[in-house]
Amino acid sequence: MTEIAIFGAGGFGREVNLIIQQLIKKGHPLHFLGYFDDEDKSAELGQSYLGNLEDLNNWNKPISIAVAVGNGLVRKEIVNKITNPKVDYARLISPYAIFNDIIEVGKGSIVCAGANLTTNISIGNFTVINLNATIGHDCILSDFCSIMPGVNLAGNVELEKGVFVGSGANILNGVRMKENSVLGSGAVLINDLAANEKAVGVPAKTIRK
Ligand SMILES: CC(C)(COP(=O)(O)OP(=O)(O)OC[C@H]1O[C@@H](n2cnc3c(N)ncnc32)[C@H](O)[C@@H]1OP(=O)(O)O)[C@@H](O)C(=O)NCCC(=O)NCCS
Repeated sequence: MTEIAIFGAGGFGREVNLIIQQLIKKGHPLHFLGYFDDEDKSAELGQSYLGNLEDLNNWNKPISIAVAVGNGLVRKEIVNKITNPKVDYARLISPYAIFNDIIEVGKGSIVCAGANLTTNISIGNFTVINLNATIGHDCILSDFCSIMPGVNLAGNVELEKGVFVGSGANILNGVRMKENSVLGSGAVLINDLAANEKAVGVPAKTIRK
């Protein structure tokens, strides 16, 4: 039985808990302990609030953690501050996501319900694929990427570390988003984005280089 907890008690944390509860219902050997969060949430969560980062770093039993924070850069900061060797990172795939083929998914990554992944796809560590996103053939998503709900990646799209793709955005075939670049909600990306570049609109135009 794996003891599992969530870091981040916000809305996404509760959605990740839904994935865990659905996996438990399907017979996965998980036992949900509760939430860690840097804000004291004991008033609203009661015993399900397990403490802050320091409490997690002092946890003295093996524990699997899902870092449920939507922004990849913040997710990375949190992971870098978790120093407890007893912590392992959950790879959480909703039983209601569609995996059409064997797809590599790195540690700490989360794939939500309705996500549809086709073939020859590689997902790095601590990447989040949110509700109803579609990921086409031969896509490569590196570490700490954040794919918001309803995004569509066509084939051969490459996302480098820390990329953020806003809800409902579309990325055309073969396009590459370099490290930490950002695509706005509803955008259609037809050209590559440079590192840290931010683009919005249809077709997407740069608002920050
Ligand atoms: C792209 C985004 C990150 C930009 O955030 P930002 O850097 O704070 O940018 P601002 O809000 O200052 O907007 C800058 C300009 O871009 C425009 N803009 C921002 N987001 C836009 C979008 N998605 N589509 C079109 N234009 C957009 C603004 O209207 C503004 O235009 P102006 O300079 O002419 O007034 C953000 O708007 C966005 O789309 N986030 C995605 C949110 C999301 O998917 N959440 C999912 C939660 S589950």
